[in-house]
Amino acid sequence: MTLQIKSLDEYKQAYKKSIEDPETFWADQAKTFEWFEPWSSVLNFKMENSSFKWFEGGKLNITVNCLDRHLSTRGDKTALIWEANDESRESVKLTYKELLAKVCQCSNALKELGIKKGDRVVFYMPMVVELAIGVLACARIGAIHSVVFAGFSANALADRVKDAGAELIICSDFNFRGNKCIEVKSVVDQAISQGCDSVRNVLMYKNSNKDVDFENGRDVWWHDIVDKQLPSCDPEIMDAEDPLFILYTSGSTGKPKGVVHSCAGYMVYTCYSFKNVFQYKENDIYWCTADIGWITGHSYIIYGPLLAGATTMMFEGVPTYPEPDRFWKICKKHSVTQFYTAPTAIRALMAQGDKWVDSIDMPSLQVLGSVGEPINEEAWHWYNDKVGKKRAQVVDTWWQTETGGIMITSIPGVTDSKPTYASYPLPGVQPVLVDPKGNTIEGNNVEGLLCIEYPWPSILRTTYGDHDRCIKTYFSPFPGKYFTGDGARRDEDGRIRVIGRVDDVINVSGHRIGTAEVENAIDEHENVVESAVVGFPHEIKGQGIYAFVISDGNIADKNQFIAEINGIVKEKIGAIARPDKIKLVEGLPKTRSGKIMRRILRLIAADRISDLGDTSTLLNPEVVEKIISEKTEV
Ligand code: PRX
Repeated sequence: MTLQIKSLDEYKQAYKKSIEDPETFWADQAKTFEWFEPWSSVLNFKMENSSFKWFEGGKLNITVNCLDRHLSTRGDKTALIWEANDESRESVKLTYKELLAKVCQCSNALKELGIKKGDRVVFYMPMVVELAIGVLACARIGAIHSVVFAGFSANALADRVKDAGAELIICSDFNFRGNKCIEVKSVVDQAISQGCDSVRNVLMYKNSNKDVDFENGRDVWWHDIVDKQLPSCDPEIMDAEDPLFILYTSGSTGKPKGVVHSCAGYMVYTCYSFKNVFQYKENDIYWCTADIGWITGHSYIIYGPLLAGATTMMFEGVPTYPEPDRFWKICKKHSVTQFYTAPTAIRALMAQGDKWVDSIDMPSLQVLGSVGEPINEEAWHWYNDKVGKKRAQVVDTWWQTETGGIMITSIPGVTDSKPTYASYPLPGVQPVLVDPKGNTIEGNNVEGLLCIEYPWPSILRTTYGDHDRCIKTYFSPFPGKYFTGDGARRDEDGRIRVIGRVDDVINVSGHRIGTAEVENAIDEHENVVESAVVGFPHEIKGQGIYAFVISDGNIADKNQFIAEINGIVKEKIGAIARPDKIKLVEGLPKTRSGKIMRRILRLIAADRISDLGDTSTLLNPEVVEKIISEKTEV
């Protein structure tokens, strides 16, 4: 059985062992899975080359461990519960046996479409059961899935499809979220028309009764091809280090990068972290509200819970539809025991007033997880007091797309929870704070840049198609260490609080947005000369997007211009990247070497003008006063 830590002593012992003898520690975890062939070595690595070989020589299929492995003991246990956006629709429940059969049918359909081991399949899907089935079906036949969040634009989807060279896109016709109906397939059509030459087929799940464009020869209905397949399919035998999936995420420069995770290490780590962080017990009902388009959905809706034999829930809708008590109603309806969401959702619901949560009793709740961004003290207490009624433990989990699984967190019943602190590393994780020169900062009550000193099984392996970029981004800044891009503080007891990104990445509602991406989009407007984008504190979203824009002066209507800028960002990236505020300015503060001084813009955006300090060393100090006096457009 995967280790499940139950006491502080056990935690300390496990941590010690994981540092002193990491190979034995991880081999013990890996032994609990089914392997077609055992590994010959636990770990070989060269941090500076981003080269990690975990469980080399081992042969496996992750879906055997998610599904087949449970049949003898949990075949009739509910594996997946699905709640529709529309409250009046019945929940869907699939047992482990039923889920395996559906995954196999989909695997066979993928094979019929010519998909084979190593091919890339992009998903652009709402949160329907078929998304989880499709992802697992890819893993079963060794195809590499890449799920693109369905809020991204056609342009952003096309970029990802092209970068991955995907042969197949799996989508739905429409997506229902709240009272919106989103035209998913038409976005896919637009994306393909932007030169996605690698795409041979589009597999479309029918999610509505509405008509939709259909291109004969290319498009295939899910119900036409999947439903007729046999419900069994031999799993592809995968090498431990074969890629399992690509997930695109924003960085500080250029276009998003495809983070690659591999089969064995990701399997071992997601199961291990799931069991410990959520203290899952056999009859618990676990619910993570994330979208599968993000890493949280991959690791803690699909893989982690299923590997652990849990009952995992998927929700199609939004927290405020039809009313702001939807989350709590679902928790009550299914007696949810572990609930995992993002601070932005907590803040949005908190802003709706207490009556929604006060009127629903949820005695089943034991663990309340938070993920994706720093949780502020007020939201933490509301979550703890109002949602958990002080009976459940809040766990603030810090991790990243690149880490594959939760790295720093409290463990319920084992380590305490301190508001705004992710707290302690899981055994096997060696965080360290460094100064900008790379010197390790020892002791407590200190702040620094967060790095991880030793590999863990689900560390990213590469960025798809550009290994050098992976090395440069994560392993070159501080040789011998993985650099997270985050700044952190260590308190007097060694607990870690992650403060936020130290690079040009903004965390908007828990979604990573690169400032360069937004600037590139804004700069496409023919009347824009230059732009600079920074984050600013936002009450609900954590951070909002603030754009400073210089125009060429040929603007007849300012409002129209602002609307066009917003439109371009929506078209190039998606609505999630639209600036919250835009300020039209005549110049941007620059250093003598011509670099934009973002620090100054961040302070102006945060309305912290008194903190600006000495600006006289700028190339153009006069511009600062002017920017401050300009009106901000919302
Ligand atoms: O800045 C950190 C923040 O989210 C970033 C990772 O974003 P992403 O790859 O999209 O993954 C989000 C879900 C795992 C981190 O670099 N972050 C994530 N969790 C926390 C956090 N910041 C503070 N506290 C957290 N618990």
